[in-house]
Amino acid sequence: MNQFAQTTGIPILEITYIIASVFFILGLKMLSHPLTARRGNTLAAIGMGLAIVATILFHQRDGKPIGNIGYILVAIGIGTAIGWIIAKRVKMTAMPQLVSFFNGMGGAAAALISMVEFQHVNPELIAKSGMANGQVLAILLGLMIGTISWTGSMIAFGKLDGWIGDMRIKAMKYVNLTVLAILIGFIVYIMTRHVQASSELTPLIYIMFAIAVIYGVLFVMPIGGADMPVVISLLNSFTGVAASMGGFLYNNQAMLTGGILVGSAGTILTILMCRAMNRSLLNVIIGVFGGGGKVNSEEILGSVKEISISDAAVLLSYSKKVVIVPGYGLAVAQAQHICHELDKLLEEKGVEVKYAIHPVAGRMPGHMNVLLAEADVPYEQLIESDEINPDLPNTDILVVIGANDVVNPAAEDDPSSPIYGMPIIKARDARNIIVMKRGMGKGYAAIENMLFYNDKTKMLFGDAKSTLQSLVNEVKSL
Ligand code: TAP
Repeated sequence: MNQFAQTTGIPILEITYIIASVFFILGLKMLSHPLTARRGNTLAAIGMGLAIVATILFHQRDGKPIGNIGYILVAIGIGTAIGWIIAKRVKMTAMPQLVSFFNGMGGAAAALISMVEFQHVNPELIAKSGMANGQVLAILLGLMIGTISWTGSMIAFGKLDGWIGDMRIKAMKYVNLTVLAILIGFIVYIMTRHVQASSELTPLIYIMFAIAVIYGVLFVMPIGGADMPVVISLLNSFTGVAASMGGFLYNNQAMLTGGILVGSAGTILTILMCRAMNRSLLNVIIGVFGGGGKVNSEEILGSVKEISISDAAVLLSYSKKVVIVPGYGLAVAQAQHICHELDKLLEEKGVEVKYAIHPVAGRMPGHMNVLLAEADVPYEQLIESDEINPDLPNTDILVVIGANDVVNPAAEDDPSSPIYGMPIIKARDARNIIVMKRGMGKGYAAIENMLFYNDKTKMLFGDAKSTLQSLVNEVKSL
């Protein structure tokens, strides 16, 4: 077996890693469309499965095969069972928490690898270059980044689940910068030591781990709960980087590719989210968002006009083209099913109904897509904002359901507004606008919305779910 592993096993292992990497890349590509996402996920999982099996069978260290196979299989079995049960049971609305939790586990695994591997840094390498070598750097970075990702994700999980509040203390950013500087100081200090074996410095590794645990908590604590999706995406990229450090360490292409893909995908998603919210990453991490802008309630001279359920039902039933703009309020009210019932009723009456999807509507990436998919709204009906905007002047009625910032014209009109420059759904271009919300409450950006005062706009006040239910009843009776 040993001979076989030496001559044939290693090439098989390396080929399997390349195949696994290809599966990861194709899987990721397929995740970019709802129709192929499920298959993409399966493909990537198969790639990971292949890499794990090949590693168990063929990986060698100092010419010896992997030991403790029994323990490894039991651990895989327990992990698979727990992951399966949690993922099966989780509600669609708790998905961000789940992502955060699983991401944290990835970070913790990368940190554990670093802690174990620090004891095994090649003594020949140490004799040649002291601790200042690539292997030690990969281990220390993996430890620092993986641990921060682990504890940061756990705090993000708690915030999203509502049992950890925000801690906004101004001095916090200075404390955080100091702790980060100490961590980097540890890396520099360890790498400049001249020792016989890395294990001599093990206590420093444990201290570094403890400081990184604290930093992960301090880093996320001051960030507002609503900004958690951006933070999770950022921590996700951290986990990817930490895992790729493991790939360097073991010269493992699958781990390296997987880590780099997660790291770059997380970074790109973070940048896209910040851009779509018109904020810098620094502002998300240390800034306080919301308020301001030229317009405030006292200055508004216009008044809002209301519409009754029956008038709204008549307008909708006798129009040709309706565009629904769902937002955070639709998710809060859990009104997605009744909303789909309304759109089906209207389509039965010959009305063309589309949904305008803004990239940061709601509170997590793809929030509206997930919500509407849960209610079985066909994907073809969901149109991205850039694509639907040119069509809005030909739209008879645009129905805003629990959205606010994503249709706020201040993004185009008011340079002093915190959302100025954010791409929006150009709701005011539609021929008529109906806005469903409970009252005149502001959105996430905490600013006034002049759309509600527009001559073409009629307000339909009430909780989105009950308003939609009444509207459905009314449309049925027409
Ligand atoms: P928002 O601007 O937050 O507005 C939601 C509106 O829904 C509120 O004005 C509220 O008004 C209404 N509402 C709340 N509960 C309701 C209910 N039960 N029934 C009916 N209406 C209800 O939402 P949006 O337009 O979706 O914009 C999202 C915002 O979140 C953007 O500013 C975005 O930058 C930010 N954000 C997004 C993300 C991601 S990744 N999606 C992440 C972080 C932050 P009433 O109180 O008057 O009802």
